[in-house]
Amino acid sequence: MIADIVLGLSYGDEGKGKVTHHLLKSGEYTHCLRFNGGCNAGHTIYHEGKKFVTHHIPAGVFFGIKSIIGPGCVVNLEQFFKEIQELRDGGIDVRDKIFIAENAHIITDRHMAEDRNDYQIGTTKRGNGPAYRDKYSRRGILAADVEVLQKYIIDVFAEFHENKNNVILCEGAQGFGLDIDWGDYPFVTSSHCTSAGALLNGIPPQAVRRVYGVTKAYDTYVGAKKFHGEGRIFDLIQQAGAEYGATTGRARQCNWLNLKDLKKAMDVNGVTDLIINKVDILREVGKWNLRSYKNNAISLQLQDEDGWKQYIQKYLRTGGNDVNITCSDSPERI
Ligand code: IMP
Ligand code: MG
Repeated sequence: MIADIVLGLSYGDEGKGKVTHHLLKSGEYTHCLRFNGGCNAGHTIYHEGKKFVTHHIPAGVFFGIKSIIGPGCVVNLEQFFKEIQELRDGGIDVRDKIFIAENAHIITDRHMAEDRNDYQIGTTKRGNGPAYRDKYSRRGILAADVEVLQKYIIDVFAEFHENKNNVILCEGAQGFGLDIDWGDYPFVTSSHCTSAGALLNGIPPQAVRRVYGVTKAYDTYVGAKKFHGEGRIFDLIQQAGAEYGATTGRARQCNWLNLKDLKKAMDVNGVTDLIINKVDILREVGKWNLRSYKNNAISLQLQDEDGWKQYIQKYLRTGGNDVNITCSDSPERI
């Protein structure tokens, strides 16, 4: 087995969907696995010129690759079936391509209703936290026990381990800053957004080949804590980058890219390849700033795009780290 992992290094919305979609084009992958989260995620994908927003279903489905919602996930039935319909309406052949792990958990209407009353964290109100709470308190409902899901249910162990030629692309949701253990608690989601989170889905550590970490040229965050930087520039970035949630439509708070946090996220996840998305937005607003490593409040002003890229490379490659760094400036390309 070979496994590559795509994950978020910031607070979600880094453009993981685009990276996954790009990697899947190689034709090498036999499976695409969503390894954490529920329909709180919103992955925006441009496929053959059409825009799709998926919440549960992994991007493998666009290429006829077996797409599995893994044991680390929670699933809302209504959303799941709605999404299948949207994909069909968009001309995607989903037959025999979409699966749910038998040991994934269900987000019930009651979980959704409870989450709608959250004001403390600023959740996506998709029932995510209550569903994981019930999972861990051993009161949850397994996907395997739901009648209408039977044709989608899969034994992930058999599927992954009975054929040693499997090449699995593991697709994360949310990001390091929202991770239940490593994020800014309590302003976090309830699942494991790290490469360790991918392994929890039946992937043995020695199978991991590449870890693609995704971030943006600036940081964004949606939720109850204050994050938006002071000054008009951050409103400009928000507008230029169309920083509105794919799931909830909420405006995303914006700030300069925090290099210290980025490095930490890369170290913990074992990132081999870094993708920095939306460099075109900084080009549009004409400012090349970063938050410095000494103090988050101090912003570092670089002269121009080249100076900015060089500073980032130097910072991230200290100590002999030979991470590949790719900057992207298009929503449809890497
Ligand atoms: P929950 O995951 O809905 O419980 O929300 C917890 C926190 O994670 C809130 O700040 C949400 O805005 C944030 N969050 C959850 N999923 C996403 C996502 O896919 N992108 C960005 N933020 C997210
Ligand atoms: Mg998103």
